[in-house]
Amino acid sequence: MDKQYSPIGVFDSGYGGLTVLKELKKQLPKYDYIYLGDNARNPYGTRSFETVYQYTLEAIKKLFELGCNLIIVACNTASAKALRNIQQLDLPTIDPTKRVLGVIRPSVEKVVEISQSGRVGVLGTVGTVNSESYVMEFKHTLKTTISVVQEACPMWVPIVENNEIGTDGANYFVEKNLKGILQKDPELDTLILGCTHYPFLLESIKKYIPDHIQIVSQGAVVGEKLIDYLQRHPEMEMRCSKNQTTQYYTTESVITFEERAGFFLGEKLRASHVVL
Ligand code: DGL
Repeated sequence: MDKQYSPIGVFDSGYGGLTVLKELKKQLPKYDYIYLGDNARNPYGTRSFETVYQYTLEAIKKLFELGCNLIIVACNTASAKALRNIQQLDLPTIDPTKRVLGVIRPSVEKVVEISQSGRVGVLGTVGTVNSESYVMEFKHTLKTTISVVQEACPMWVPIVENNEIGTDGANYFVEKNLKGILQKDPELDTLILGCTHYPFLLESIKKYIPDHIQIVSQGAVVGEKLIDYLQRHPEMEMRCSKNQTTQYYTTESVITFEERAGFFLGEKLRASHVVL
């Protein structure tokens, strides 16, 4: 690697962020990427605010050490519970020229653009839902009057992690949670998959919701918004190296990661172990 090597970091608690990485590589193919999955401490969705903040900060520091100047926190739970603190309290002392972006803001901006009825559903982990981050982003940050209902789907991440996608058991939980959110608002016209793992369940999800409901899957949206961000921040764009390489790091077994991540991405890959 040359001295200018400065990949875009993509962080997730496990494999789910690969859905974001895949889209970034598709939409912004010229850049270098580092993917870091904290598989050893996954899931984050049921952990406390303090724990998710500590784990996420450790991962961010490691990605900085590995050369990243720009990091996408691809995990909704970490975006919901840790991102604001990291941006406001930690970055100014670590290095104010570096940037850490999340997935909630781009998803919410996209929904504001596409929802006709202004009635939206958010599916997420218990942590994301309880943090009310999506609700706050709609109401306080973007100051919209969009009505938001939420449903926590605690079984969906284990279904994906354990490769139970499409089984009768998995479909039972997918249907149950979709019925739950539609009962909360039968008029919603847009559904945010507010967890990186959920795009893997897209085919099952489509079976249980009416056709007119639009599904916002984050990978594509984050890619779109990152293109826009880099156009608006040429000083950061210039710092991102462009050799089309991707490195993978995991806090768990490298062999397991290579096998599972390779399956999710549909390609063979080599990973390295990292301690946070
Ligand atoms: N990646 C996390 C998210 O997007 C879900 C997995 C977990 O619970 O760690 O919320």
